[in-house]
Amino acid sequence: MRTVLIAAFLLTALPALAAGPVKPARLGLCAACHGETGMAQIPGAPNLAGQRLDYLRGALKQYRDGRRNAPLMKAAIGPVSDQDLDALAQWYSAQAPGQATP
Ligand code: HEC
Repeated sequence: MRTVLIAAFLLTALPALAAGPVKPARLGLCAACHGETGMAQIPGAPNLAGQRLDYLRGALKQYRDGRRNAPLMKAAIGPVSDQDLDALAQWYSAQAPGQATP
């Protein structure tokens, strides 16, 4: 019985693990400028794909707390919780950098 339970758990958990982090709910807004996969969609927006997790997390906290003065990003990130902020950093960090759109 235990083996069956473990097997069932692995079957449901593994695909989720293989797919990397779950798409954060707020990603849609970010994607307008940074793309879903972290390749910038508008001039002036940085690529985020594959940047280090601790760097992305730190940058987002700086926008949120006003320590980075970029009104656009401060408005975009808003009063986000640490948990949601972390999910966004995880997502972009896990993306593979691709070809930038010209
Ligand atoms: C309206 C366009 C726009 C939207 C929407 C937007 N960003 Fe940005 N983002 C920018 C711009 C422009 C910068 C560069 C700002 C600066 O000079 O610090 C930036 C910078 C960043 C950086 C810092 C990158 C670095 O290399 O230091 C991160 C991380 C980031 N954005 C994440 C996000 C996330 C996550 C969201 C969604 C909650 C988001 N952005 C929404 C335009 C946008």
